[in-house]
Amino acid sequence: MPGSGSRLKLLKIGGSVLSDKTRPFHVRYARLRGIAAEISRYLSETRDKLVVVHGGGSFGHFTAHTHLEEKGGYDAEALAQISLAMNELGLLVADFLQSEGVPAVLIPTHAVWTAEGILVGPVVDVLEAGGVPVLYGDIAAPGGAPVIISGDTVMEQLAEKLPASEALFATDVDGIYDRDPSEPGAVLVERATPSQLLGVETGRRRGKFEVTGEMASKLGSIVRIARMGLRVTVFNGLRPASFYKALKGELTPCTIVEPEGEG
Ligand code: IPE
Repeated sequence: MPGSGSRLKLLKIGGSVLSDKTRPFHVRYARLRGIAAEISRYLSETRDKLVVVHGGGSFGHFTAHTHLEEKGGYDAEALAQISLAMNELGLLVADFLQSEGVPAVLIPTHAVWTAEGILVGPVVDVLEAGGVPVLYGDIAAPGGAPVIISGDTVMEQLAEKLPASEALFATDVDGIYDRDPSEPGAVLVERATPSQLLGVETGRRRGKFEVTGEMASKLGSIVRIARMGLRVTVFNGLRPASFYKALKGELTPCTIVEPEGEG
């Protein structure tokens, strides 16, 4: 359960920040190095604790999309191949974080995912040891049925089961817009309560290999997390220094969603 005085933050690095999702197995190495340095700087200046979750990018989405196209669903082979692709991206993220001095500990989501959701014990243990747990959107097999778990769903489970005060979502746009941001006249929503967000029409834009949906499903996760009492920030992770500033609470422009009654 979330605790309001806590200095634990949850950070989702969207797959579109880590990679160009139109190019299979593509990695934005330079930006990844920058993100790792920004997270390192933020952690060295505060006593805050952090859990990192990253998206599938063109590793998870491309591999999952290929299976869906060929077989119409996910079987044992899909479970093996998608979890391996995500493990490879997870290793890269953890490796870059460690290179910048962040004690990142990779916790494969499928290994802690059950029919009751996430087994949070291993995440808590890493935090108590002073490490930074790194989880990711993945394929898991709760109850024996392979299913894609988005990083946003992982964030929701962590928000429910850990005493975090804030959740931050890095995407490839500046935040949540009042309509699909590719439409002319779209305006950035700088502050909102969860209820105000429910009226936002996000559009149906989907990437070529996308298997978990874009802003619409993310918005649902954001509303549920804010309703648990966490402050939620949505920001553009492609902008240099955005992770450092967002984690410090100093970033503009971005969208801040405050729990009802506090916004
Ligand atoms: C997707 O996770 C996981 C897989 C496709 C295996 P996300 O839905 O969180 O990924 P991004 O952030 O959209 O890339």
